[in-house]
Amino acid sequence: MAAPTTTPQREGEPFLPAPFTNTVPPPELVAQGAEALLYRTHFLNPAKPAALKARPSKPYRHPTLDARLTKQRVLAEARILVKLSALAGDPSNEVHVPAVLSLEWDTARKVKALEAEQRGSRGGGAWLLMEWIEGHSVKELLRHWDAWYKSVGDNLAPEELTRQEDEVKKLLRRIGRAVGAMHNKGSVVHGDLTSSNILVRPIKDEHVQNGSNGATNDDPVTHKDDSSPPDLNGEIVLIDFGLATQSIQDEDRAVDLYVLERAFGSTHPRQEGWFDAEVLQSQAGYRGSYKGSNVVLKRLEDA
Ligand SMILES: Nc1ncnc2c1ncn2[C@@H]1O[C@H](COP(=O)(O)OP(=O)(O)O)[C@@H](O)[C@H]1O
Ligand SMILES: [Mg+2]
Repeated sequence: MAAPTTTPQREGEPFLPAPFTNTVPPPELVAQGAEALLYRTHFLNPAKPAALKARPSKPYRHPTLDARLTKQRVLAEARILVKLSALAGDPSNEVHVPAVLSLEWDTARKVKALEAEQRGSRGGGAWLLMEWIEGHSVKELLRHWDAWYKSVGDNLAPEELTRQEDEVKKLLRRIGRAVGAMHNKGSVVHGDLTSSNILVRPIKDEHVQNGSNGATNDDPVTHKDDSSPPDLNGEIVLIDFGLATQSIQDEDRAVDLYVLERAFGSTHPRQEGWFDAEVLQSQAGYRGSYKGSNVVLKRLEDA
């Protein structure tokens, strides 16, 4: 069998590890953070979308140390995802995460013979391929909600405003619930809880067969249509476990909540006032999510 032809990484292009350089259509870069690039691609067949989280090697780090660190991060994230995915079979489960599809922690080893020369010294890096989650992040949803609220302004009937505010509060309680389940049932602390790392996956409507997995063509969030509020219904899916650890310490859990509270305050000032009552104190939120949550909430208060 002939060796597969690879497209060499061009100078200045974002890191895309082999074998994804051969994927047709090519993966689409959707987010670029300090540590990782996030592509939308597919797995096995084009109808099955997948998220590729690629961690390039850092050219300024010693190659051996660099390979070890990148490997550790990818493996740690995959382990936590697999662990939390295992809870999904439990009908009372309230924490959802993307399923792990594949991973590689030493791309240099795999592609060395084929590509190393073309890629110069930019070998290495690691990647994690996971289930693609349809929907939007809580950050996008609340930003859209704010834009809608601003655009309708005084024309909004008070009872409609109350109804829409209740939808947001309901979402906040579901977030608290999901974090509680991750802490308690999963024995995991996230380490980087922000509204970008919490996704809302629309519940698939069995009756609407538009083949789009809930991301409808008239989605106001995608089309930045401020004339209607976003649909906040759906399943909370937690992502980005690159900094997560396995821990059942109250202190670690309290820090997780503190990080989320701070991130929320700076990103969503309009909803900040609801955070404590809905996310944390509600029986439908964190407080009611497990026995022992009160100790963590007390710790958070004392901090
Ligand atoms: N499984 C996924 N399905 C859909 N979108 C995802 C998925 N994983 C990540 N994303 C998107 O990519 C962004 C960056 O991914 P993330 O894992 O948070 O990396 P980073 O560490 O760079 O923040 C997320 O905020 C989200 O919008
Ligand atoms: Mg993130």
